[in-house]
Order: sequence, then C-alpha cells, then structure tokens
Amino acid sequence: RPPPPPGPLADDSSKLVHDAAHPYQDLKPGDQRGPCPALNTLASHGYLPRNGVATPVQIVTAVQEGFNLENSFARFLTYSTFLVNGNPLTNLMSIGDATPLTGQNPPKPATVAGLDTHNNCEGDTSMTRNDAFFGDNHSFQEDRFQNFVKYSKKYGAGKYNYTAAAQLRKFLIQDSTQRNPQFSLVSPRLFTAFAESVFPINFFVDGRDKSGQLDLDTARSFFQNMTFPPNFHRRAGAVSNVGQDVVTDLLPNFKPGSNTKGVNTYKADPTSANLDQPCVRYTNFVNKNIKSLYPNPTGNLKDALKTNLQYLYEATVAAGDGCTQVFPYGH
Ligand code: HEM
Ligand code: MG
Repeated sequence: RPPPPPGPLADDSSKLVHDAAHPYQDLKPGDQRGPCPALNTLASHGYLPRNGVATPVQIVTAVQEGFNLENSFARFLTYSTFLVNGNPLTNLMSIGDATPLTGQNPPKPATVAGLDTHNNCEGDTSMTRNDAFFGDNHSFQEDRFQNFVKYSKKYGAGKYNYTAAAQLRKFLIQDSTQRNPQFSLVSPRLFTAFAESVFPINFFVDGRDKSGQLDLDTARSFFQNMTFPPNFHRRAGAVSNVGQDVVTDLLPNFKPGSNTKGVNTYKADPTSANLDQPCVRYTNFVNKNIKSLYPNPTGNLKDALKTNLQYLYEATVAAGDGCTQVFPYGH
C-alpha cells in the first residue's frame, strides 16, 4: 500500500537550500529531466533522486523543502500527475520521458510515460517549452525564453513580475491559437498553465528578496540550467498560486477550449472545468482521465489506484474545495 504524503513543513521559514548537502551534479546517461524547471532543479541537487525517477512522497517532500510549495497544492499536483504518468505498481514516476527505471508497466491503455506525456499536466502555451504539435514539448527553447525576456523588459522593467506574467500568458494563448492547429487549453492542463505563470515569481525569487520581481539570470538558471543560483534561499512561508488573479484579470473573456479545425478556429469547450470549478476538475479527472487509462483494474493495481485516488481526494479536502468524493473502483 503506497504510504501517505507528508503534511506541511513544521518550519516553513526561509533558509539556504543550495547548501553543501545538495550540490548541483550533471546528468548521467539515462537520468530523466522534463518540462518542469522546479522538479528538474530538485533532481539536479539531490532533493529528488538524481535519476529523475521518484515516488509521490519524495515529490511532495522535495517541493516543500526546496521551494515551500503549500501542502494541499503540492499533494493535488503530485497525485494527479502520478495517477496519469506514474506506475501505480512500483509507485515510481519519471519527471521526464518513459523509462524502464519505473519498472514493469500495468496493462494498456495505461501509459506510464512520465511528465513529458502530453495533455494532462503538460500542455500547450508553456513559457519555455514548445507545444507538443511542434515536436519536443519538454526541452528548454531559447526563442521562447526570449519572449519571457521581452515581456519582462516591456512590462516589468527587466524583471518577470505579475504584470509581465499576465501579458506573456495572453501572448502565448494568442500565439498558439495562430500557429498550432491542434492547440488546446482545457482542464487539467488549464489549471497548470495559469498557475505556472506565477510560479516563477512565487518560488524562483530568493527568499531574502521581497520585491516580487524575478531577475532574468535567475530565471535562466532554473528554466535552462536546472540549477539553484549560488546561495539560493527558498521563500519564507508556504504558498501556491497567489497572484494568479492578476493573470486572469487580463483575460476576462478567456474560456477553456481548442482549435477545432486548424489554426485560428478556437472554440470554447463547455465540458472542461473552468478555473473557478475545482470540483468539476476533480470529478472529470477521476471519472474520465483516470477511468479511461484504467477501465477495469484488478488485484494490486486496483488497490494502488484506490489508495492514490484517496490521497488525491484528501488533497481537495485539505484545500477546502468541498468536493463530493467519487469512487470509480468502488468503496
Ligand atoms: C511546468 C509538474 C511543482 C514550476 C510543469 C509541467 C509539469 C510540471 C508536468 C509541464 C507543464 C507545461 O508547461 O506544459 C510539476 C509537479 C510538481 C511541480 C508534478 C509537484 C508538485 C512545481 C513547483 C514549481 C514549478 C514547486 C515552482 C517552484 C513550474 C513552472 C513550469 C512548470 C514555472 C512552466 C514551465 C514553462 O512554462 O516553460 N510542472 N510541477 N512546478 N512547473 Fe512544475
Ligand atoms: Mg508544455
């Protein structure tokens, strides 16, 4: 039975996290890195296993310890990605591509293909990674980072802040609408896209700096080099997606949806949860996304899925969402 996730940090004050016990080390052949600059960095410094293959408990522990991500948010993000992209039989998930390091797979249609898997947590309009339609959805792209630089210069006086985050997100949505015939921005990806816009401000700014402005060298250190800057201190106090309202306020008419007939054919999808519908997100995720990957699990697999679904639901309770629990595999 997979062990339960940890609770909040006992001490969530700021502290040195780029310390002597956590030096950066280059990748070895076979090590996995993927679309998330935070998890990549945590693996490169040994807060996660350096091979990039981790259990849910290790991921929750590492994002709290290294960045001070709030507990219920960390748990929801971790179990929702794990249920789609991880191996419930071995309790291991790759933070990048599919790898034999996660062990013997459960039967198809389960995928167990790591965080690079398109259209669950990973999706279109990433700040520094291309849309999957263009091929590689997980490697750092300099031209996309240059948009991040451009919007930080134009709207943040050379720093990435909430204003720049909102303008960049607006641009990225327009850009994908115009260039990606398969562009889609629906739940669950919808939620990660908007949260990720403010994560660099909330978590990549050194804890001793209260400006709310991320300098571009520090941004590059995380996004491209997967490294804490020298002497990096995590933020003081756990948070999640504070500031996201600045981003959504700039896009009052935005609705989740997709390009349905090629570029510039964006249509709202009424079946997708909106950002203010966490329970629709939860229920559809379990009954549609998970059920389609695991239509009729049995034995150990069924038990592991039920336990991980229980941990996912408990994260919604801890977040205060007030959702009704759903049981696709019985009580
Ligand atoms: C992107 C997973 C925690 C910052 C992503 C993506 C995944 C992911 C799958 C790709 C989404 C995409 O852009 O298409 C996770 C998981 C976490 C976690 C499972 C566990 C709790 C964090 C934390 C931070 C963070 C703690 C900040 C310290 C980001 C940012 C991106 C991202 C900024 C966007 C990259 C870009 O747009 O270029 N994450 N993440 N993540 N993550 Fe994480
Ligand atoms: Mg992406």
